[in-house]
Amino acid sequence: MTESDRAEAAACGKVILLGEHAVVYGAPAIVAGIDRGARALATRRAQGPSELTLGGETFAADPEGKDDRAKAFAALLAVEPRLGAVHVEARSDLPAGGGLGSSAALAVAIARAAEALGLRAGESVEEREARVLERAGAWERVFHGNPSGVDAMAAARGGCFRYQRGESVRPIMPRSDLVVCVGSTGKPSSTRETVGLIASLRARRPDVVDRSIDAIAVLVKNAHLAIEAGDLRAVGSFMDLNQMLLTGLWVSTADLDYMCELARGAGALGAKLTGGGGGGSVIALVSPAQDQAEGAQRILEAWKRAGFDGFVARIPAGTPHRSGGSA
Ligand code: PMV
Repeated sequence: MTESDRAEAAACGKVILLGEHAVVYGAPAIVAGIDRGARALATRRAQGPSELTLGGETFAADPEGKDDRAKAFAALLAVEPRLGAVHVEARSDLPAGGGLGSSAALAVAIARAAEALGLRAGESVEEREARVLERAGAWERVFHGNPSGVDAMAAARGGCFRYQRGESVRPIMPRSDLVVCVGSTGKPSSTRETVGLIASLRARRPDVVDRSIDAIAVLVKNAHLAIEAGDLRAVGSFMDLNQMLLTGLWVSTADLDYMCELARGAGALGAKLTGGGGGGSVIALVSPAQDQAEGAQRILEAWKRAGFDGFVARIPAGTPHRSGGSA
């Protein structure tokens, strides 16, 4: 086997700081890549079918497969089937159903590794990454019908940015570091279910849902300004208000609300669910008023005492970005 018969790639997970769900309906969202993510190793196969090894199981790519992973892998490859037969071994360090973009990180890592095997002469990185996003979009559509694309974009770019369907990505340059505690309810979040829940609520009560979406869009715009101005107290308040609106859309849970309360009680400037909700994770913004490592520790301990695990993610000030990438 030669070097060009094997390729490795990685992609990151993400936290949505504000704007999940509303982003599905065209509102903007603020998202930041985190250190944890997914990796994939692709090798060329002499003959088909293409196979994916994930979580110790191997699936042949199959558009009609019973398992969504077999279907999603087939959809990802079918975007441009010129790659030939491949075997991809992938793993994610993010909890599945954790609201941290595990599925999109896997999709981007798998698509990048597979694409790297089929490198085309003269193709730019931007062209290849655009196809990686298309492939990731096809994968994501299998898991939930109407992905906004925010997860895949975050997995591919990293950094902090504002995302809106059909618009160019706008990099955000935080004035100061954003330190965020990420806590897990330990219960999986099904993005498909919560996205479906809001869609059916909207079919019955479009006025209620559209008003919430508009309000979230305003919070996102204000939070963008506050992040760039370094006004973290304001960012925290916008996160709290965003959480209230998500609760009104029925995608929060008792555990998510409780974890937000615990974080605020331990000094967080604001807290909210992140990702699909209905389980999954919360984020809490650490105050820069005291030592941030200590502040983060207090929040993690409050969660731990109540039986919830968490970790710290740092979104650095003035994060540099890759150029390009459009929604
Ligand atoms: O739960 P996650 O990590 O897949 O995040 C979903 C984000 C949503 O806005 C709820 C859905 C989407 O496609 O944008």
